[in-house]
This record gives sequence, C-alpha cells and structure tokens, in this order.
Amino acid sequence: MSIKIVPIDKTNIQEWRTSVRRVFGDIPSESDVKRLVNDRLMIPYEDWSKGSEKVDHNRLIGAYDEETKSIVGTGGADKFDITVPGGNSLSMAGIAYMGTAPTHKRKGIFRLMMNNLHSQAKDRGDSLAGLWASQSLLYSRFGYGLATLREDWMINAKSTQLNKSSDSKIKIRFVNKKLALKEIPEIYNSVWKKQNGFTDRSQGYWDYLLYENDNTIYNKSGMSGLFFVISYVDNKPTGYVFYNINKESGIAHEDDKGELIIQELVAQDSDSNIALWNFIFGIELVEKIIINRRGSSDPLYFLLENPRMLSRNIIDGLWVRIINPIKMLESRSYNSTGKLILEIKGQNQDDIEGIYSLETDGVNSEVKKVKSKPDISMRPSDMSSCFFGGITPYELYKSNNIRCSDSKKLELFSNMFSVFQTPWCNTDF
Ligand SMILES: CC(C)(COP(=O)(O)OP(=O)(O)OC[C@H]1O[C@@H](n2cnc3c(N)ncnc32)[C@H](O)[C@@H]1OP(=O)(O)O)[C@@H](O)C(=O)NCCC(=O)NCCS
Repeated sequence: MSIKIVPIDKTNIQEWRTSVRRVFGDIPSESDVKRLVNDRLMIPYEDWSKGSEKVDHNRLIGAYDEETKSIVGTGGADKFDITVPGGNSLSMAGIAYMGTAPTHKRKGIFRLMMNNLHSQAKDRGDSLAGLWASQSLLYSRFGYGLATLREDWMINAKSTQLNKSSDSKIKIRFVNKKLALKEIPEIYNSVWKKQNGFTDRSQGYWDYLLYENDNTIYNKSGMSGLFFVISYVDNKPTGYVFYNINKESGIAHEDDKGELIIQELVAQDSDSNIALWNFIFGIELVEKIIINRRGSSDPLYFLLENPRMLSRNIIDGLWVRIINPIKMLESRSYNSTGKLILEIKGQNQDDIEGIYSLETDGVNSEVKKVKSKPDISMRPSDMSSCFFGGITPYELYKSNNIRCSDSKKLELFSNMFSVFQTPWCNTDF
C-alpha cells in the first residue's frame, strides 16, 4: 500500500467530501459540496482550480492510495481566531473533516494526516490547533488537552419558569432570515472577543450554519424550519435565539409533549439574556426545551424557579493542542503575579518539548526557554487543558498527569491560571 498526501481542489473535492461524509454515514450531493466550498470555506467554487493563487490549497488534504487510485483518508484545518483569558485572540487551526475509509483503518493514515496538518499550522504561524472529537479517546495521543466542557441541557418547561421578569426596555421580535443573517453575526461579533473560548465566525460560516431549503423549512415531519428571534434596546440588537420545533412532538394540543430545540442563544448582557429566556419559556404547549453546547458557568440554573428541572449532560467540548507555547503563554492574562519554571514533555511533540520560565505581572508576561530545574512537569495536553482555565491544575495533579514536588508551586500555578470567566466554546466544527 502506498499512500501520499494530496491537496484538494475542484478536480477532487467531490471525491474528498464523499469520503469525509461516508465515515459519518451520509452521502453529499453536488450542490452540498458547492455550498461547502462557497459558504463554509468562502472560496468561490468557480475559482477553485489547481494553482489558483486565490486559494490556500493546503488546508484541505486527502490521503491518496496509489494502488486503488482513490482518496482513502481526509482532513482539513479551518481558519479560526479564539479568545483567550484577558481578551486577546490567537490564530487557531480548526482541525476537522478527519476520517479514514473503513477499508484502510489502523494503517497509520490518520496519524499521517494529523502530522501534516500540525506541521502546516506551524509553518503558517498558528499558535494552536483545536478540534471537536467524535470520540474522546482519540486525540490526547497527539497532544490535545480538553480545554472546554460542553453542557447539553434538557429543561422540563412545564415545571419551572424564570425567577426574574424581563426589563421592559427590551423588545423581542421575530425576524426574517435575511435580517437574521445580518443582525445575528453582528451580535455574535460583539460577544466573541469578550468570551474566553469563543471563536470568530466568517459570514460564510453563518450562511452555512443557517442554510435551509424548502425540504428543511416546510417538511411535515421531523424538525420545523428555524425561527429567528432578536432582542432590541432602543432598536439596537442585543441578543438572539434561533430554534426549531420537533414536529413529531407537536405543539398544537395541550396533550402534546412539545419539544423546542434551541440551536443557539447568545446575548450581549444579562438583561437581554433574561428577556430571551423569558420569551422561550413563554412559548405555550412546550414540555421540553433542549439546548446543547452551553458553557459550564451559564447563569440559567440560577434564573430558574425550580432549578432541578434543568438536566445537564456534561461531556468534552473543545480540545486544544499547543503549536507555539511561547506565543500562547504570553497571550493570556493571569490571575496573579508570579514566576514559574514549567517543563513540557512527551506525546511526540519534540518541537515544543523543553523547560520554560513564565514570569507575569498579571497582564504582561515573558516566556523563555531555560535550562533551570522545573517547578512543575506536565505533558503538552495538560498545559493545553489548564491554558483556558476550564480545567484546574489540581485535577490534573490528582490524576498524576502533572508532577510537582512543592505544593506551594502547585498552588501558585493554580492561582495564576485560574480565570474570572470560565471558557465556553459553542462553535462546533
Ligand atoms: C478514527 C479514525 C480517523 C482513525 O483512523 P486510522 O487511519 O485507522 O488511524 P491510525 O491507524 O492512523 O491510528 C492512529 C492512532 O490512533 C489510534 N486509534 C485510531 N482509531 C482509534 C479508535 N477508534 N480507538 C482507539 N484508538 C484509535 C491507533 O491505535 C493509533 O494509535 P498509535 O499511533 O498511538 O498506536 C477512523 O477510524 C475513522 O475515520 N473513524 C470514523 C470517523 C471519526 O471518528 N473521525 C474522527 C472525527 S473527530
């Protein structure tokens, strides 16, 4: 078997996408593929020919089997910026589309593609790589650490309400798709730079995310089309929610067990958040509200009259891998001043392995590679986990992943890395 990595362009994108979707049990149409290229990747499909300078061909890759002359593995890196504690942002390779054909499993093809995507991220100057995993056991071998938790919620809407009423200056309105596609990205853009763990989203990303056709909007079973709702103060948009209704459950009769699925709810401030939730709880004949990918410090629990009616299922969210440790550690703010000597070692990340001194006044930090004796030793994935502040050094110490012989140093590490705002990432790619 001879496998080589090939770039993807107009000549092989259909085969590549078919290969990506096959491992997830789906068959893409030609128009789905064009939409992916035009919207999500923001490459005009017609321009996407071999050698076109308009296109960064490396970002999508295929593993090509020279014997069968076919693509048997797929991968790619979307372009994202992610907000870090303190409000700076870092460039992140958004690893996605990973799959190996079941005919070619466990021959190292996935590892070959991951190595390729990591080295191109380094060449491009990205600071980190991030991904959402189909299986949580797959990625720590490549140095990925769990950076944010994902909470999937189910709310028994008939047994609770909000314990706060809405501010009368906030107006809630349904909007059409055209206005939604203008105002929702504007609201999101004003929030993502203030939320630790949020990523940017291109207009193409929004077009792709909110795409609907007649089959999805007007279908008579399954899920309804999307309803778009925006909160306004003095006619300025301040928050949004978009949701579907499960048509099987129905919300037409008081015996129906109506199910409302919120795809996303984001607000610029607490009052708008409360007003949007009051709006949702006010929709009649709904028994169950479902919302996924919430952050772990979301205030809703404290806004419910009967908080136990909110069931929370917590799983892994964004996984992060260090590409440039110095840039990463210098970019975030810290909760206290201090100096630590940190050793990063293992997981085949020879390029970043070493001992680093981190000295900070809380806002400005200097990170240098040194030869001193480390205060604390850890794997790259442990540093990735601690970086956004969602996972504590103590948890990793108690699981024997972080090694430290002086408890005062561990306390300092915990103090410095603890965050005012728990990380939340709701962009699942
Ligand atoms: C997961 C998947 C990409 C692995 O592809 P692959 O080419 O068989 O993987 P490789 O042979 O390169 O294996 C690389 C490493 O991962 C390990 N690995 C791969 N799949 C694994 C699995 N399902 N469970 C545990 N370990 C796994 C291998 O043992 C190997 O470990 P090692 O190098 O440390 O010894 C492939 O099985 C697949 O496409 N699965 C369905 C889609 C999917 O889940 N994609 C990931 C999206 S986030």
